[in-house]
Amino acid sequence: MTLPGSPYLAYKGADLYMDDISLRDLVRQHGSPLYVYSRKAMLAALAPYQRALKGRQHLVCYAVKANSNLAVLQTFAQAGCGFDIVSAGELARVLAAGGDAGKVVFSGVGKTRAEMKLAIETGVRCFNVESTAELEVLSEVAAGLGQRARVSLRVNPDVDAGTHPYISTGLKGNKFGVAHELAVNTYKRAAALPGIEVVGIDCHIGSQITEVSPYLDALDRVLDLVEAIEAGGVRIHHLDLGGGLGITYTDETPPGADELIAQLLAKIDARGHGHRELVFEPGRSLVGNAGVLLTEVMYLKPGEKKNFCIVDAAMNDLMRPALYEAYMGIVNTQQRDDAAQTWDVVGPVCESGDWLGRDRQLSVQAGDVLAVLSAGAYGMTMASNYNTRGRAAELMVDGDQVWVVREREAVADLFKLEKLLPA
Ligand code: LLP
Repeated sequence: MTLPGSPYLAYKGADLYMDDISLRDLVRQHGSPLYVYSRKAMLAALAPYQRALKGRQHLVCYAVKANSNLAVLQTFAQAGCGFDIVSAGELARVLAAGGDAGKVVFSGVGKTRAEMKLAIETGVRCFNVESTAELEVLSEVAAGLGQRARVSLRVNPDVDAGTHPYISTGLKGNKFGVAHELAVNTYKRAAALPGIEVVGIDCHIGSQITEVSPYLDALDRVLDLVEAIEAGGVRIHHLDLGGGLGITYTDETPPGADELIAQLLAKIDARGHGHRELVFEPGRSLVGNAGVLLTEVMYLKPGEKKNFCIVDAAMNDLMRPALYEAYMGIVNTQQRDDAAQTWDVVGPVCESGDWLGRDRQLSVQAGDVLAVLSAGAYGMTMASNYNTRGRAAELMVDGDQVWVVREREAVADLFKLEKLLPA
């Protein structure tokens, strides 16, 4: 069986390993549930981006929201990446991890004045602005600091990324970006504002995209705009084509980053835009398959209609199944010889939506450790304390080395900001 995440995730004999480390041993030492990431797998996922863009002026800005652990950010900072952020909190993380503010792009539809001020003072490379209203506020904030904010407008190319409605962002009905037909005038407005310096154009059409064609369609629409904008006298330096490249959770076959970029470059060159700097904002494709969520089986509860495998991780640890009905692979970290049965893998939270996998073929016993695969992206970053459950610990492995990169949250941490009323 080839697992998503292989070769960094593979069985050696009956035991599942990440790099050179037995995952079952990690749970024995560090408890459950536990997120584990492979640094090698992250760097291997970055390599095709860097390879495909070699010789071009470019910047790969890792999308922090996918996995914002400081050690993950440090890994990408050391590999030369910039960062795509959506809050002052993410900016603080990037700086704490040794990232370079000059390589940060600041995305998001609702930046506050305080966030804008901080980002300008810190020297972020570019704001991806999503509306005229935001543009005017940003200009005011920058002018107040005696500066001009570097800006690219996020345009909405109105293409269907063919993905889940909650993670599709490039359609007219989405809240994101400046509508295609308004873009030229919005650029004119931007260029006229005292606190704004136009530097680029940006689009991001969605996430978990498994085909090249929506990207090519969006690129055509963006290049049409660039030509119209420049004809109107506003110069565009860089093209930011967003993130969104999908990964394999089950049987998806997304293109490799190098294949996607090769096709984009061919179009960019054919249309005479080869001189422009290129920016990408990948999140999931850099970290998704580099991580697993390990969880111990507590109880087996066979039933008339369903068999439930009750584990100690829940929707608060990994929200994707509950929120998007997302499929995440689940395997036993110790392969058993006995026949597999069909199980719903569920957590202890008091909601029927608290499931991690449905109708899974597993050979499993209480005390086993299951691995939820492809959990490196949008796992821990979307975790909550629902049901007053502390969030899981996070580990990073590299070869035979293991580091605790986030301690398990203690119960006392969970209400330390709360106060009783006066007696
Ligand atoms: N750039 C912008 C402006 C974004 O909004 C996003 C993701 C990215 C880059 C990175 O996209 P990626 O390469 O990771 O697809 N929680 C959802 C995914 C939400 C994505 C939001 N935006 C999930 O678990 O599937």
